[in-house]
Amino acid sequence: MLILGIECTAHTFGCGIASSTGEILVNVNDEYIPPTGGIHPREAARHHSAVAPEILGRAFEEAGVEARDIDGIAISLGPGLGPCLRTGATVARALSIYLNKPLIPVNHCVAHIEIGRLTCKIDDPLVVYVSGGNTIIAAYVEGKYRVFGETMDIALGNCLDVFARRAGLPHPGGPYVEKLAKAGSNFIKLPYVVKGQDVSFSGLLTAALRKLEEGYRLEDLCYSLQEVAFSMICEVAERAIAHTRKREVLLTGGVAANKRLQEMLRQVAAEHDAIFKVVPREYARDNGAMIAWTGTLCLRHNIVLPVEESYVRPRWRLDRVDVPWMEA
Ligand code: ATP
Ligand code: FE2
Repeated sequence: MLILGIECTAHTFGCGIASSTGEILVNVNDEYIPPTGGIHPREAARHHSAVAPEILGRAFEEAGVEARDIDGIAISLGPGLGPCLRTGATVARALSIYLNKPLIPVNHCVAHIEIGRLTCKIDDPLVVYVSGGNTIIAAYVEGKYRVFGETMDIALGNCLDVFARRAGLPHPGGPYVEKLAKAGSNFIKLPYVVKGQDVSFSGLLTAALRKLEEGYRLEDLCYSLQEVAFSMICEVAERAIAHTRKREVLLTGGVAANKRLQEMLRQVAAEHDAIFKVVPREYARDNGAMIAWTGTLCLRHNIVLPVEESYVRPRWRLDRVDVPWMEA
């Protein structure tokens, strides 16, 4: 069985093709980079509709697969930006009708976890999912991926990106903050906000920006911002590991590329004798392959959607999604 997956929730339009045996045949993605400032949903949606035909064509061509050989079309219906989701869904619906193949609704957060389980060859991890739009600690319990901590305001990647932008660094700023942090030497005190199992980054961001205006060294601020933000993630992740007793820890989402975060979480996992895995870079960012692979899991459990009911789901929460394939 072959599934075409379409990713379109935010900045990236991507197409992937996966087989039900876990083979990724192709993963073609195109990321919208705004000329200045942050991402405007309508601009990103315009980008998606402009690149869709080419990305789709390349996916089939590079995979050596004919469109009619596909067994279903998986679409990331949410969570994400409305205009982007609608653009991707339009492409997916059209293909579903034209090819007469089922439309498979995929939750973007579930897909980040499933591609991690596949590529890291792990079974039942405590998940640390950190990206520009999401910050979630999750683990499978009784039919769903339950949330064991999340951000109360902005996401970790967004915090790094906004700080970087205000410091005059290019977008997305996460990798630039990481690079400059390596040259940081003085720790600058910044607010550490953990409430129960949840974290908050907006106060931390405001404080870091204020220090920037006050003339503190950018390298020191990048270093301190990372240390504080990542420690917050590690604290809630550690309690979640202790509570759920998961034996594996999976780091996924765009911020998973950060070596310092990897190092800190690896230590936390080791203290609990848990295996630590990081999703390979190509699959940590938003991508079509993760939607395709999750689509194969859904289709095996008959999770499909009539086109006329395929509304986008901008606020679709991870812990509302049934994941029957996780049942032992
Ligand atoms: P989602 O829709 O799942 O929230 P997203 O739209 O943010 O995802 P991703 O590609 O998963 O997209 O993540 C992008 C984020 O990852 C950006 O905030 C970017 O700055 C951050 N990032 C990428 N590399 C690094 C790095 N080395 N260090 C820190 N952050 C990074
Ligand atoms: Fe994502």
